[in-house]
Amino acid sequence: MHELIPVLTKDVIYAKVVEVARKISDDYRDSQLVLIGILKGAFVFMSDLMRCLTIPVEIDFICASSYGSDTSSSGKINLTKELSIDIKSKNVLIVEDIVDTGKTLAYLVNYLKAFDPKSIKICAMLDKLERREADIKTDYSCHVVKSGFLVGYGLDYAEKYRYLPEIYQLKL
Ligand code: IMP
Ligand code: MG
Repeated sequence: MHELIPVLTKDVIYAKVVEVARKISDDYRDSQLVLIGILKGAFVFMSDLMRCLTIPVEIDFICASSYGSDTSSSGKINLTKELSIDIKSKNVLIVEDIVDTGKTLAYLVNYLKAFDPKSIKICAMLDKLERREADIKTDYSCHVVKSGFLVGYGLDYAEKYRYLPEIYQLKL
């Protein structure tokens, strides 16, 4: 067990999810929206987010991994689950747990473009802005965070700690 330093409590997390869901519901009023969650990390955030929306949406997941059990991006993305619904001419909102270098999203935005959606935007629970290397900007994000390694609320370190309801910094 590593030492875990509390960073975001349940209440703080949920309040922002509600706020971001309200913006998304406003922005996509009267349009067809598909949420695409990036497994595994985003499933907790996406399940809270979609239940706070006040518009109908379709959902799908793709599974991408780049990290193995290390704490910095390998830059090499593996897709182990592809899209299973048709997104042609629909508005896509990618739902991600955390954007770090941006390499994962740069790859995934490119992958999704090939299916000819009407638009692609990005919603991330956490944005590690100062670590960005790829040309990726989030359209919606709940919290901008510093460069430490975070776990909980879906985020893992070598598959551990995803189940924690709050977000912690891992002391390595
Ligand atoms: P990027 O390609 O460097 O932007 O990395 C994005 C992916 O790395 C995310 O989808 C996460 O799965 C993982 N990741 C980046 N930072 C963290 C962190 O602090 N904790 C847990 N996972 C992270
Ligand atoms: Mg992820």
